[in-house]
Amino acid sequence: MCGIVGYIGKRDAYPVVIKGLKRLEYRGYDSAGIALANGGLKVYKKKGKVAALEEAVIGEDVKGHTGIGHTRWATHGEPSDRNAHPHVSNGGSVAMIHNGIIENYAQIKNELIKKGYTFSSDTDTEVLLNFIEDIKKNNDCALEEAVRIALRRIVGAYCILLIDRDDPDTIIAARKGSPLVIGIGKNEHFLASDASPIVEYTKEVVYVNDYEIAIVRADELILKNLGNERQTPFITKLDMELASIEKCGFDHFMLKEIFEQPQTIFDCLRGRLDAENGTITMGGIQHYAEQIMNAGRIIMIACGTSWHAGLVAEYIFEELCRIPVEVEYASEFRYRNPVIHKGDVIIAISQSGETADTLVAIEKAKEQGAIILGVLNVVGSSIARVSHAGAYTHAGHEIGVASTKAFTAQLAVLTMIALKIAHTKKSIDDERYFALCRELIEIPDKVSLVLQQNEHVKALSEKYKDARDFLYLGRGYNFPIALEGALKLKEISYIHAEGYPAAEMKHGPIALVDEHLPVVFVATKDAYHQKIVSNMQEIKARKGKVISIITEGDTVSPTLSDDVIVVPAADEIVAPLLSVVPLQLLAYYIGVAKGYDVDKPRNLAKSVTVE
Ligand code: M6R
Repeated sequence: MCGIVGYIGKRDAYPVVIKGLKRLEYRGYDSAGIALANGGLKVYKKKGKVAALEEAVIGEDVKGHTGIGHTRWATHGEPSDRNAHPHVSNGGSVAMIHNGIIENYAQIKNELIKKGYTFSSDTDTEVLLNFIEDIKKNNDCALEEAVRIALRRIVGAYCILLIDRDDPDTIIAARKGSPLVIGIGKNEHFLASDASPIVEYTKEVVYVNDYEIAIVRADELILKNLGNERQTPFITKLDMELASIEKCGFDHFMLKEIFEQPQTIFDCLRGRLDAENGTITMGGIQHYAEQIMNAGRIIMIACGTSWHAGLVAEYIFEELCRIPVEVEYASEFRYRNPVIHKGDVIIAISQSGETADTLVAIEKAKEQGAIILGVLNVVGSSIARVSHAGAYTHAGHEIGVASTKAFTAQLAVLTMIALKIAHTKKSIDDERYFALCRELIEIPDKVSLVLQQNEHVKALSEKYKDARDFLYLGRGYNFPIALEGALKLKEISYIHAEGYPAAEMKHGPIALVDEHLPVVFVATKDAYHQKIVSNMQEIKARKGKVISIITEGDTVSPTLSDDVIVVPAADEIVAPLLSVVPLQLLAYYIGVAKGYDVDKPRNLAKSVTVE
């Protein structure tokens, strides 16, 4: 949450920072601001998206080779100009931006108020900034030293960038919990929350670690720990192309990402799954195969869409591997007192690898002796660094706030892990194993076929866009897909939607059913297909509108449905990879039809780095 960008070097900082902020807008878009060191400090900030900031600075002096910028997802204080970052210290000499939450800000604020400090915003950021200034003044020390002293007292998460009017050729940065990447150019440096603002300038980056401070000049990058010891910057090469962060002709990133799925699932399987020879190569998992096979249980920890992937995986692991699985919301897991045994295997599922709740939950489990495996999309992310091993999903940069291609890549990776363990453990026979490998390798082509229904789904969205509520029902492997379909619709179209196990619907939600309620059945063919057909009948009998996702060749469901979307036949274990796609399209088109900004739905942010 919140995106931060910094630039120092030979170019004008303003265009680099503004462009970077646009790339990071998916992290929050309540307000945006920029500070430039330009013979003094120039600070411009505005409530709303980056475009509003750009408009506000037309005609202003935006020169300067050092600049920092921020796009905000509000935590402390409403979205407004005054709460927008950057903030400027009481003395007027230091500007700062911040991503994270300072938990002990109230106590520090009181201390500063007693010393005569005043605050022009409601943010925790302004408190930390003035705390730093106070230390700098009292110790008559450099800004870097003041930051170091201040951070030793800070409880919470932060990535901060500071510029000093009196030292315009330096940016000071520090992180704990919130990400920071530094791009290394020729006599210039780029700082950002992720690599997307950096990739067009350089592919050499340093991922700053927790508790590190960076002293960044045009021609120099110094990293130190909070004990003032120099750290060696570890330079990595970015594996990211510019096209991956552009819309490439699509109206929205979300639609582009939905359409990328045949390729992203293929990329995820490539080099790992050899269906012909029945081999699955996953280095990180291989290393822990013994522990996974012998685990008393596996606990999947995740949030949101990633949690839904965990639910599908629970069914798959239990079916194929015969290992008990629990699926936990990270936010609940971290605050209760869960029983964790040494040797329990935790699978952390996260697109961003930065979700604060997931990160803290796995740190807690790790302390108690659990083995942590990450199923993550962002390489080098915080969760990746805490995990013992894992498997990346290789879905590429996901920019739309509503997760789509990351979800199907998570399902593909989790299915491969389950198959690998089941085969090694011999909990499934060779015939089933080979059949499922073949089923999985066929998925990218089958997703392409599902996407051919694009226009049909678009037409359905027009028909149903004015509904007040939606109910999504599914059974077995498709139950979590019903939850995911409902979540997508809520996020993008702001229509109230609930996902439910199809049979459980009789225990309450059926009271909602009338002729106005669209009920989406995720009803692809599986072992219990007849059961969900009965559930359709129950809805039809109460005049609900039935929209069904069905398998080709199903002749019964259409007779009970107002509308159907047909997907290719597939084994029930891999069917969720197909059945979720029309639900993503439906949510997308309803959101667009209602005129909403589907890539940046209200109140949301892509990467939830606060609890
Ligand atoms: O980056 P993560 O996968 O850890 O994020 C988890 C959730 O915040 C995320 O899936 C969220 O629910 C999405 N907006 C869903 O579309």
